[in-house]
Amino acid sequence: MSQTPWWSRSVVYQIYPRSFADTDGDGFGDLRGIIDHLDHVADLGADVLWLSPIYVSPQDDNGYDIADYEAIDPMFGTMDDFDELVAAVHSRGMKLVMDLVVNHTSDEHAWFTESRQPGSDKRDWYVWRPAREGHEPGTPGAEPTNWGSFFGGSAWAYDEASGEYYLHLFSRKQPDLNWENPAVREAVYAMMNRWVDRGVDGFRMDVINLISKTYPLADGVLTPGDPYSFEIERVANGPRLIEFLEEMNREVGITSKQLFTVGEMVACGLEHAREYTSRHHDRLGMVFTFEHVSVDQSGSKLSPKKLHLPDLKQNLARWQEGLADDGWNSLYFENHDQPRSVSRWGDDSPEHRVASAKALATVLHLHQGTPYVYQGQEIGMTNAGFTRIEQYADVEARGQFAQATAAGVPEEAVLAGLSAMSRDNARTPMPWTPEGGFTTGTPWLPLNANTASINVADDVADPDGVAAHYKALIALRREDAVVRDGAFELLLPDDETLWAFTRTLGDQRLLVVANMSSHLAGVPISALPSLEDAELVLSSVYPGTDLQTLAPWEARVYRFRA
Ligand code: NOJ
Repeated sequence: MSQTPWWSRSVVYQIYPRSFADTDGDGFGDLRGIIDHLDHVADLGADVLWLSPIYVSPQDDNGYDIADYEAIDPMFGTMDDFDELVAAVHSRGMKLVMDLVVNHTSDEHAWFTESRQPGSDKRDWYVWRPAREGHEPGTPGAEPTNWGSFFGGSAWAYDEASGEYYLHLFSRKQPDLNWENPAVREAVYAMMNRWVDRGVDGFRMDVINLISKTYPLADGVLTPGDPYSFEIERVANGPRLIEFLEEMNREVGITSKQLFTVGEMVACGLEHAREYTSRHHDRLGMVFTFEHVSVDQSGSKLSPKKLHLPDLKQNLARWQEGLADDGWNSLYFENHDQPRSVSRWGDDSPEHRVASAKALATVLHLHQGTPYVYQGQEIGMTNAGFTRIEQYADVEARGQFAQATAAGVPEEAVLAGLSAMSRDNARTPMPWTPEGGFTTGTPWLPLNANTASINVADDVADPDGVAAHYKALIALRREDAVVRDGAFELLLPDDETLWAFTRTLGDQRLLVVANMSSHLAGVPISALPSLEDAELVLSSVYPGTDLQTLAPWEARVYRFRA
């Protein structure tokens, strides 16, 4: 792999197509809507567009359940629209990255329909198992193992016709493919090659470290109070993962064609990330870890706890140091599975929303790695504010609600957890104008109630808006080698209010200092490098004259000679 792959200089913008822009009034975003709004992305300066899935799908998990990898779902448009999008992206000097969901398919994929027939030669394309010994198939407790699915309930679904169970780590409409079968792998690589031939520049690989499971499949340890086991080591980072990643790389020409790849990986720590992204091997460009987005959870996703800032910044720092000499970091706070960062770690009150969105952007974009901007993050969109289970569309939210309430957790507690952490927080449609501007029909999920005040048109028109700050950060990365390549050092690691670090390249150094709170913060100047002769490069609010005190959510970037 080359020493400086092109994507190590890139900024990615993620589009969740169903919530981006609707041009035919059906309430779902579509490809033509993306084409219409490409200039918004180009103006920010992002150079890679990642599209969440647009393939034919029953939409049980909003397209992460694919019924045909080779066709565009009519709800998003046609293959002609897709070709036009590729051309429009490329004509702006940008690249297009597709979501690749191959740990599982939809249960409506033709492969699975065939696989359901016990005698079919596709039977072994999925993970089928008989009932647990001594149990009547289809009865409670007869599942082949005690594994839970990520979306609640058992990870096994009983298929009456064949009297066996199939594995689904996600919803029962998302059966896991059997990657042990070479025919499956061959079919996946052939499909990827067809997309590459069509002009796509890379792939974001959905839960890709689950493709190699540890066989034989066996019961996991149960935690008290949980009917199912989540011993993730049994399904993640399995013994053949590296072999499969290298084979895929080779068969699709990922390294030779310089394709962009990012592997989404549950239970992926630093050691794994180094292995998977090492420049001495041809595997992946980078990974999405879940470590830093778990620091504010106590046990489950539905029991968030207040962020203790040192946990977040020390985690990122550990990854900066850990991948400094080999491997590469992805930098993200938001995506379609995470709540809005300004509500989660900033302050989404009218008084502090803009400044806190800018402070979060500043610290993230000044780390080393490839930053990701999730649609709406660039205008400081907030959480959805749902209070009733009926408001949620997400299969995960509904599954977790059913499982938690069945286990006796009070509804109010589950709803509070969902309101803070649910994925629908990030999936409300893009508010293009104060009136909405997303659709002329009824949106599939309501727009945020604050659309009149938080929308693209108003934010972009404001020179002090959030988007203007993102633009400045992205431009700084483009212009400044220190932002891209400088060595990282965390300062004041235990400070619960300030996030401070330096980046150093040769005799060039940047100092980033941010007040991550809604009150004034004193800065222990003596613990920071001297700012004599320093130049203020960027600030998130109108800067005061010195650095003794920072305004709420004020973030500054200084440049000086090391
Ligand atoms: C991760 C995706 O980001 C998420 O949206 C999806 O539900 C699961 N993988 C299953 O595909």
